[in-house]
Amino acid sequence: MKEVLLSTIKAAGALVKEGFSQEFEISHKDGINNLVTTIDKASEELIVHTIKAHFPDHGFVGEEFGNENEDAEYKWIIDPIDGTVNFAHRVPLCCVSIALARNEEVIMGAVYNPMMNELFFAEKGKGAFLNDQPISVSAKSTIQNAFLVTGFPYHFPETKVHPVDIFAKIVKQGFPVRRLGSAALDLCWVACGRFDAFWEFNLQAWDIAAGYLLVEEAGGKVTNFSNQPYTIWDKESLATNKVLHEDMLQLLFS
Ligand code: IPD
Ligand code: CA
Ligand code: CA
Repeated sequence: MKEVLLSTIKAAGALVKEGFSQEFEISHKDGINNLVTTIDKASEELIVHTIKAHFPDHGFVGEEFGNENEDAEYKWIIDPIDGTVNFAHRVPLCCVSIALARNEEVIMGAVYNPMMNELFFAEKGKGAFLNDQPISVSAKSTIQNAFLVTGFPYHFPETKVHPVDIFAKIVKQGFPVRRLGSAALDLCWVACGRFDAFWEFNLQAWDIAAGYLLVEEAGGKVTNFSNQPYTIWDKESLATNKVLHEDMLQLLFS
């Protein structure tokens, strides 16, 4: 399964990289500026087709073509391009994200940014890697110096405090906060210590599942906003280097 995961994500990444400098069609999904391109669809088709050829009994949760064989023991959770709005505007901050869950538990995850040639991989209990080199979360222990990243959904959920108000509150306190436009990369960049924490409201399983395992296997922590361990059906996500987890919950919600 690891071999299939890695060869498939490399092939999908090559397709995305090639598509980046070619003509493609863009269409709108529901929400505001929620885009999809012909390359997103081609990438998901390639991934599902390749994995199905190896594992015909497995299930799929894919962003563009939906779910298949959902009750299967093994499920592949696929974001064919995470960072589609970047991609559609030729901004090279995007990736392919594929996770493998067994009975709803993520056991493997890979995230590949073909533009930077960065392939992140993690396997449950076996560590996290960037281009085959072990990675770990940052060692930062003071929230005042934290370097943060977040994202905004296409649909704003009904929350007690609006995500933009939380963002404004934190920026006004002087924290450096970035918004890259790819939740999967945000999580991987926490995993390799570039960022100290990431949070976002209203994500989908395909945005988080692989990046979640990267962060945890790199020594970090991922929970929902109630500090409960991540499950693949959680929509909200807080990922940190673990040391700053409680401080981040305080910063966001107090
Ligand atoms: C989006 C990106 C973005 C995040 C959005 C996601 P997409 O995924 O991860 O960073 O803020 O919430 O939906 O549409 O590029 O696959
Ligand atoms: Ca996504
Ligand atoms: Ca996507």
